[in-house]
Amino acid sequence: MLHLVQSAEGNVTNEGVEVCAEILGITAAEVSGVATFYTMYKRRPMGKHHVGVCTNTLCAVMGGDLIFERLKGHLDVGNDETTDDGAITLEHIECNAACDFAPVMTVNWEFFDNQTPESAVEVVDKLRSGETVQATRGATITSWREAERVIAGSRTVSSTRARPLPGRPWPDSRSRRPMAGRRRRTARHRPPPARRRPSRARPSRQTPRAPRPRP
Ligand code: FES
Repeated sequence: MLHLVQSAEGNVTNEGVEVCAEILGITAAEVSGVATFYTMYKRRPMGKHHVGVCTNTLCAVMGGDLIFERLKGHLDVGNDETTDDGAITLEHIECNAACDFAPVMTVNWEFFDNQTPESAVEVVDKLRSGETVQATRGATITSWREAERVIAGSRTVSSTRARPLPGRPWPDSRSRRPMAGRRRRTARHRPPPARRRPSRARPSRQTPRAPRPRP
């Protein structure tokens, strides 16, 4: 829900926190506790794109620190700051479990593997000029808000532009097909319990054998 708030508002606003609390039947303080604990939830307005540079141990020694310094100078921003044109918010991020491809950078959470200061500058320049940018793993970069909408549960980016007709439910595919893609594990679908073979009774070694009748 907080990702949905971010996609609509651009960050986790107080109003968004109140709405989440009301829907979930918990206090605003409890929602705020989650929003301030996880770094993916932003309390300040974000730029059009979020650029994260991993500066955790492996990426740092492989060049992540250099990339981050270079981008700070090139964009004239500090950590967690947004460029004057509102295009890029730069943040140094923790390990993204992509250490094999160090140093990594993310744009709207899409991976850019094996980066160099030069390639990172090229990426942010293209983003600022509105050129199409493709992540090294294939995804086409949209915007941070659109990415947040996808994380919030939208299957496709195009559905983020869908709006409900007046008096009709929200046109989310999941609301039309409540269990699409998943099978509810009812008693009918639950596999039968495995049958255990009846074990053969073995004669105990302790049991004395009956003496054979002598001829
Ligand atoms: S240290 Fe950067 S992805 Fe693990």
